[in-house]
Amino acid sequence: MAACLPCATASALVLTRRLPLLPSFTRRSTICGRRIVCVKNFQINATRKVFVPLNYAQRRIQSCGAASSSQSVQCRSQEDVLVLGIETSCDDTGAAVVTTDGRILGEAIASQAELLGQWGGVVPKLASEEHRKFIDKVVADALHNAGVQESALSAVAVTIGPGLSPCLHVGVRKARIIAKTHRLPIIGVHHMEAHALVARLTEKQVGFPFLVLLVSGGHNLLLLSQNVGQYVQLGTTVDDAIGEAYDKTARLLGLDMRKGGGPALEELAREGDPKAIKFSVPMRGPKYLDCNFSYAGLKNQVRMAIESRNIDGDQVSLSMASAEDRKIRADIAASFQRVAVQHLEDKCRRAIEWARRLAPSLSSLVVSGGVASNQTVRAKLGALASELDLQLVCPPPRLCTDNGVMVAWAGVEHFRLGMYEAPPDADEPDDVRLDLRPRWQLGDIYEEGQSEARSLKRMNQHPSLTAQVCLYARIFTEKFGASRLQVDFWNQGPKSALMTPPVMKTPEKRFAF
Ligand code: KG4
Ligand code: ZN
Repeated sequence: MAACLPCATASALVLTRRLPLLPSFTRRSTICGRRIVCVKNFQINATRKVFVPLNYAQRRIQSCGAASSSQSVQCRSQEDVLVLGIETSCDDTGAAVVTTDGRILGEAIASQAELLGQWGGVVPKLASEEHRKFIDKVVADALHNAGVQESALSAVAVTIGPGLSPCLHVGVRKARIIAKTHRLPIIGVHHMEAHALVARLTEKQVGFPFLVLLVSGGHNLLLLSQNVGQYVQLGTTVDDAIGEAYDKTARLLGLDMRKGGGPALEELAREGDPKAIKFSVPMRGPKYLDCNFSYAGLKNQVRMAIESRNIDGDQVSLSMASAEDRKIRADIAASFQRVAVQHLEDKCRRAIEWARRLAPSLSSLVVSGGVASNQTVRAKLGALASELDLQLVCPPPRLCTDNGVMVAWAGVEHFRLGMYEAPPDADEPDDVRLDLRPRWQLGDIYEEGQSEARSLKRMNQHPSLTAQVCLYARIFTEKFGASRLQVDFWNQGPKSALMTPPVMKTPEKRFAF
């Protein structure tokens, strides 16, 4: 039988001495049955006629495969890869175990709703103490629910930013201890990327590129997602995020914050008339032709409406309000929600136009983050998407708010591409200085989306995840023999990077997250 393409390429490379000087072994080709020379930790890329380094998961598979020909060892498949995800960036301690093919084997979450109700918002020191109290139990519960031992994991993914430093610290430390004990690679996850990518776990048909609106307590982002780690930021908030506006309005209206400001306000808004109060929609008119958001002005309008109607949420909670007072509060809630969501709609409409210029094949609008669990948000953006011929994808509400599953899944997506850090050294001290990124941008900014306010806000930020991924990819592809096309691809930057980028594989050290 003639040699198959990988065999023929391998033989040619061996003969022409383009084989890396690394340990080799032989195995039978599964295609043509011939015995071929394999290079440890490398695989043949027949198209490019080079040996490319394997990522960690592939190395494990290769070592099983090498043994299996002589010792019949069960080969570990990609489907067996189990990633533990840990989330502690704000006020929820979450953990989950997810497989490469997107099965959620087990999850656990400890919410800080009581604290939130007591203090009316997140107090970083108290939140981190709660994380510290619950982290071991939450991780143990997630593993128990999954029926998995720590030692059976393939990798640990953990949110390293953006978020509150003392809170991030708790999760990252826990992740490193597990990874160190069991020699597991670590994946440092961007919290907002996790919100975006979880849509690909729940709706398998969501492929790149897709447009994503991320709406949470601290972020309002419109991004074109081109691949894992690659985003073009079309818009962001110049001041507050929508979740912040929901929380503030809920507090002023005297709602029960233990339910969460957003859910409590959504519930009250159902009783009110959304047209009762004429709040103005932010950033309309010829001056605002971008995809940025602003909620500070709306928050102010709401505060004035509440004060002028003599409502004191601090003194009189909703449960103690008279029927008449309750009706006024419900009208304010409904009117606020109508305008807040209208603002999302306005900016999404423009972002779809921009995104289609960059990616004409665009077919999905993903909406995620805590506020995406709101039914009005889903209904209005669903109508917009269908008007503009896009499929709306919203993860189920429990996966829209912070959780461990989204972090584990983002870990899977990175792990599959070889983007992870090597296991911590066995002698790494427990108090090692951790790489935390409280202010960390996700994507590169689309030129037309620049704004003065935002450039000021960017001070003290980590370079974006996308900039980092592009930089590493360029270094690795140049070092490990990428074709000219691939190098050009990375040089051109994200605006023109709309084709599938090369998969990044490196032999040992991964990203220094
Ligand atoms: O993503 P998330 O859980 O945490 C952050 O990353 O910030 O989002 C929390 C935000 C909070 O502001 C919360 O009030 C808001 O999401 N939220 C909602 C709803 N559920 C959560 N806002 C409006 N309607 C909801 N149903
Ligand atoms: Zn979040």
